[in-house]
Amino acid sequence: MLTPLTGQVYEGLPAFADHLQAELGIDTASWGPLYYLEDTASIGQGSCFWNQNIWLAPFQLTFGSITEAAAALRDIQRNWAPTLFTQFRRGALMQSQLPFLSAKPRPFPWSVPHTPVGAWTLLDAHTLIASAHCSSPFPRGVITFEEDKEGPPSRAYLKLWEALVRLRKWPGPGDRCLDAGASPGGWTWALARLGAKVSAVDRAPLADRILAMPGVRWIRHDAFTLKPEDLGPLEWLFCDVICYPPRLYEWIQRWLDSGLCSNFICTIKMQGKPDFETTRRFAAIPGSQVVHLYHNKHELTWIRGV
Ligand SMILES: C[S@@+](CC[C@H](N)C(=O)[O-])C[C@H]1O[C@@H](n2cnc3c(N)ncnc32)[C@H](O)[C@@H]1O
Repeated sequence: MLTPLTGQVYEGLPAFADHLQAELGIDTASWGPLYYLEDTASIGQGSCFWNQNIWLAPFQLTFGSITEAAAALRDIQRNWAPTLFTQFRRGALMQSQLPFLSAKPRPFPWSVPHTPVGAWTLLDAHTLIASAHCSSPFPRGVITFEEDKEGPPSRAYLKLWEALVRLRKWPGPGDRCLDAGASPGGWTWALARLGAKVSAVDRAPLADRILAMPGVRWIRHDAFTLKPEDLGPLEWLFCDVICYPPRLYEWIQRWLDSGLCSNFICTIKMQGKPDFETTRRFAAIPGSQVVHLYHNKHELTWIRGV
């Protein structure tokens, strides 16, 4: 029997469970790493950012056999990713009866398919919770890439790749990009490889091989004291500066007010405690989203593309 649930399920990030609990206003998970909140209107200001994936339309299914349960999910849609915390053998058996879902590392650029990826878990031998619609386009919110171990001087480019894949859009040849807080050059490397023209701003230098890439120029400066008119117009603004979130917000507002750039990807780096208030202000900027990427650490990513 299939029973829709009225709330949502939030898949926690093990390292940031306390942040998620603070957002949801509950202090224990419902099932394994999963938090079920019946009344989502009760979330502080209506937003939850410190999660790996949100199950947007969950339902409970009681079933007689695993074969019956797998058939019920297949009848809804093709793609389903499990989060198992109990019933591991039955869960593996059930997954083997669902269409194969590749977890292989992706190349970049990669166009993520528009087909939805659902989520499910087993509560006991005859009960599961599932949702056909989830907030992340990736199974369980997880994506890995075919890494380049030679070119980039840091692994920070992975979160930029993830943000661009999530946005389903990336700079093309000749696009003007600002990379604020660019040293040692992982993001600049990723952008220059796309053929973009990159102004890399940082007081610290970039690796020599990145500076030698076509289209790259280094501006030795504090990014926040450069005015939009000094650098714009731009197709893209990227920022990975370590700073207090309000400082980043104030600078981004100046760029938005200037109208000189429309596409933005910025890391909101938490200094000590998470800054929920500034995060909500970023999320309220029209046309934007704030997410915790799989490749983020104690930080969130603000993404706005037009
Ligand atoms: C996390 S690192 C950036 C890593 C880079 N995205 C990469 O892929 O290699 C942060 C950088 O921000 C720079 N930074 C800090 N404050 C800055 C400011 N006000 N203006 C420009 N850069 C700044 C630091 O020098 C540091 O290189």
